[in-house]
Amino acid sequence: MIPTPHIECNDKNVIAKTVLMPGDPLRAKFIAETFLTDVVKFNNVRNMFGYTGTYKGKRISVMGSGMGMPSIGIYSYELYKFYDVENIVRIGSCGAYTDKLNLYDVILVDDCWSQSTYAKTQSGYDKDVLEASKELNDRAAKYAEELNIPIVRGRIHSSDVFYAGNFDAYKGYRDEHGCLAAEMESFALFANAKVLDKKAACLLTVSDSLVTHEETTSEERQNAFTKMMEIALEFAE
Ligand code: HPA
Repeated sequence: MIPTPHIECNDKNVIAKTVLMPGDPLRAKFIAETFLTDVVKFNNVRNMFGYTGTYKGKRISVMGSGMGMPSIGIYSYELYKFYDVENIVRIGSCGAYTDKLNLYDVILVDDCWSQSTYAKTQSGYDKDVLEASKELNDRAAKYAEELNIPIVRGRIHSSDVFYAGNFDAYKGYRDEHGCLAAEMESFALFANAKVLDKKAACLLTVSDSLVTHEETTSEERQNAFTKMMEIALEFAE
């Protein structure tokens, strides 16, 4: 069933088996232009740009996911189910819940906790934790070590809300659920991977802190995530 409602690519073979997914389609463009050669653009629908190119002689795709679980839920489902994609590695930003994390630290997500109903609505999964693929995480940890890039591993909070009414609620997510930081997409991505028998992982760069209120600018968010991208690009095959 291709093209899909949200991806206009007519040929499955144009999209690599592994897709890196930043939230921002302009970050996908930046990654394709900065790190890949022989680039083909395969999606323009809603400006959710997708590209396939070559990194160190191997193929990889990169496409925006949009913000939030409904958005990444749509794109990751279509890539897995209709374009035969095997691996999706989200490369995103997150807000730190602990002062042990610094801006630009890189997190490799072991699992995510969420209050989201995405997985229950999608497939009846009624637990509140979903895990990343162990195989992809082992690879990511190995790549990070080879590249000499420090990573923090752990659980993160996958949230439906950026602007929480109770600003201090994060302390409960940290202290009761063990969440290091917040982002808004991994729970839906991991749910889709689970139900479709595919693999997903998530690398995050700390872009702000709920504890110290430090922030990065949107330009820094777009351009300064090189360490995380270098780990993720090693997934090319
Ligand atoms: N909350 C949710 N998602 C985020 C945040 C945050 O503070 N920072 C970056 N992505």
